[in-house]
Amino acid sequence: MRIRRTALAAVGLGLVLTMAACGQNAAAPSAPAAPGSAAPAGATKVGVILPETASSARWEGFDKPLLTQAMAAEGLDADIQNAQGDEQKFATLADGMISSGVKVLVIASISSESGAAVAAKAKAQGIPVIDYDRLNLGGTSDYYVSFDNTKVGHLQGEGLVQALGNKQGAQVIEIEGAPTDNNATLFYNGQQEVLKPLYDSGQLKLVASQKIPEWDNQVGGTTFEQLLTGNGGKVDGVVAANDGLAGAIITVLGKYGLTGQVAVTGQDATPDGLQAILRGDQSMTVYKPIKQEADATAKLAAALATGDTAAADAIATQTEDDPKGNRQVKSVLLEPQLITRDNVKTVVDDGAVPASAICVGNLAATCQQLGISAG
Ligand code: BGC
Repeated sequence: MRIRRTALAAVGLGLVLTMAACGQNAAAPSAPAAPGSAAPAGATKVGVILPETASSARWEGFDKPLLTQAMAAEGLDADIQNAQGDEQKFATLADGMISSGVKVLVIASISSESGAAVAAKAKAQGIPVIDYDRLNLGGTSDYYVSFDNTKVGHLQGEGLVQALGNKQGAQVIEIEGAPTDNNATLFYNGQQEVLKPLYDSGQLKLVASQKIPEWDNQVGGTTFEQLLTGNGGKVDGVVAANDGLAGAIITVLGKYGLTGQVAVTGQDATPDGLQAILRGDQSMTVYKPIKQEADATAKLAAALATGDTAAADAIATQTEDDPKGNRQVKSVLLEPQLITRDNVKTVVDDGAVPASAICVGNLAATCQQLGISAG
């Protein structure tokens, strides 16, 4: 069995990566590159731009360290930057990378428009572009690596319904992602596959659905509070599009004495989200193994850096629809997984989040009960 573990230790609000070799595989064909090690001299340069830090703990906590590791394992010299939610900064970072001679550009954009503009510039210089996690609608990127995002939403819908049980007419508030992020639309579509028939039949009652610009967690919390008070303080279930929004909503529920009484969804299997599930404040999250996303991106980048499009096509065997650009984009679309209290252990056993980041304080006993341990 092949085990390489990435220990993500939560420090304050941020997440700091520490690497721990918790397992060894004598049969591994080659030793993994030492985490964080510098790429070999003269290694091919790849530019990576991540969108922001505030919308989710994933970008700095999971994506950055795992992409660093995956690119190094492919012998690539990755320059990984974060645009901090600033589209102008995103474009400036891209310009810098293009003029520094990157052979491939990997972008997780803030909006389709600004992402597509960057991709067009790179393309004009003959640099292949990979859309990472978020597809730029109407863009020209050559490849897309992400998860089945409609399925992510479907799992959120299922998780909400499971948590609500049979209560007839249960009242639901939907707090969705950014209108400029195609993923937010796909999550919504997937949720509605499950929820719309139940709204139509009267099994559930939709109070309101609101998109949150830039996935801003604080705005998500205040928007939810307004909708809650506008509904006389009544709510049974909340679709929160990710763990960050869920956290803000759980804070508001606490203010109204509703902690643990309302079904709340999430996404990203962040340490905070997993802890909220263990406490009973959040009903579910969606685990998207970012290591798989980072590894596939690095392999694709390595193939494209040498101009081997046949090898790249052999990796990106799926397609994602770009309805705006009216084209099918060659893709790698990975499988998301529904996580509830019963299988938080899966995320820990998979090496995505260390037990030490969640099993603290009075959650230590809960972890023990659920068999969650450092292994
Ligand atoms: C990602 C989610 C993330 C959200 C906010 C989406 O595009 O797929 O994992 O929670 O953006 O950053």
